[in-house]
Amino acid sequence: MSTMRTPVMADGLPASLVEMLGPEIEILDWDDSPHSPALSRAVALITYGHPRVDGPLMDRTPHLKIVSNHGVGVDHIDCAAARSRGIIVGNTPGCLDAATADITMALLLAAARNVVVGDKFARSDAFQHYDPSFMIGYEVSGSTLGIIGLGRIGKQVAKRARAFDMKILYHNRRRDEAAERELGVIYADLDGLLAESDFVTLNCPLTSETTNLIGSRELGLMKSTAILVNVARGAVVDHAALLGALQSRQIAGAALDVTAPEPLPRNHPLLKLDNLVIAPHLGSAANRTRRRMEEMTVINLKAGLSGSELPWRVV
Ligand code: DGY
Repeated sequence: MSTMRTPVMADGLPASLVEMLGPEIEILDWDDSPHSPALSRAVALITYGHPRVDGPLMDRTPHLKIVSNHGVGVDHIDCAAARSRGIIVGNTPGCLDAATADITMALLLAAARNVVVGDKFARSDAFQHYDPSFMIGYEVSGSTLGIIGLGRIGKQVAKRARAFDMKILYHNRRRDEAAERELGVIYADLDGLLAESDFVTLNCPLTSETTNLIGSRELGLMKSTAILVNVARGAVVDHAALLGALQSRQIAGAALDVTAPEPLPRNHPLLKLDNLVIAPHLGSAANRTRRRMEEMTVINLKAGLSGSELPWRVV
């Protein structure tokens, strides 16, 4: 007796996620080409590595009911288009806040204290003797941190920064007085935060309001000793402006977990700079976090396919 398997189109799923989906799901390889047979059959999409899902793609997927996104950020999915077509979108919020805050601090510390250039140097023949005047970075402890986007991840960054005795400023669309009481964070307008902070971390979602939020003007407000850390989305920062600010040492450094495009072209001038630390989008790449993201992706998918409410629904 043959059972009908549910066709779900997905991009590059790891074996662990495929196993969780079980035999009742037929995984179709991602194919968004004009006459894609996968699109014509898929009842659901799993977006694993941020493939773009827009209205025209939805229109070419006539049986589409649900898009289950592995990750919290859904800027690669046109949620308004999904809503207007009655397509449900789910994501995986909450489980990755701590891991993403950890990488924010890891990048901040790496950039401040020359961990990456120091690693390269320590492996090279150039390292012949200890020199106290060499690679002097910036104290993290006791300095001022500006968090742009005090949501779930931003609050976890603030908790970690408190352990470093940092003064913590934040900028959000709205003031969060409960967070101010609980975490000792201080609200600042964007310009004030940029001017006062030694470290600025971007922990906001990518929206129309945050696209190119940090450009030449904003970088120009930062201290020449300041370091910018982007763990949000690449498009929050104008990369040409950042390149100029780093090359001219208008700011001391930057650390990026995300870029636009991602990855950057291999010959991109940012990749040649010593005052840039870069990671390949590792924000939530920690073992227990990834496992939970996979579980949530599958739970959302199966809820949507069975007609139940999604536990983590965006649209
Ligand atoms: C997220 O959760 O949005 C991360 O960027 C991984 O997709």
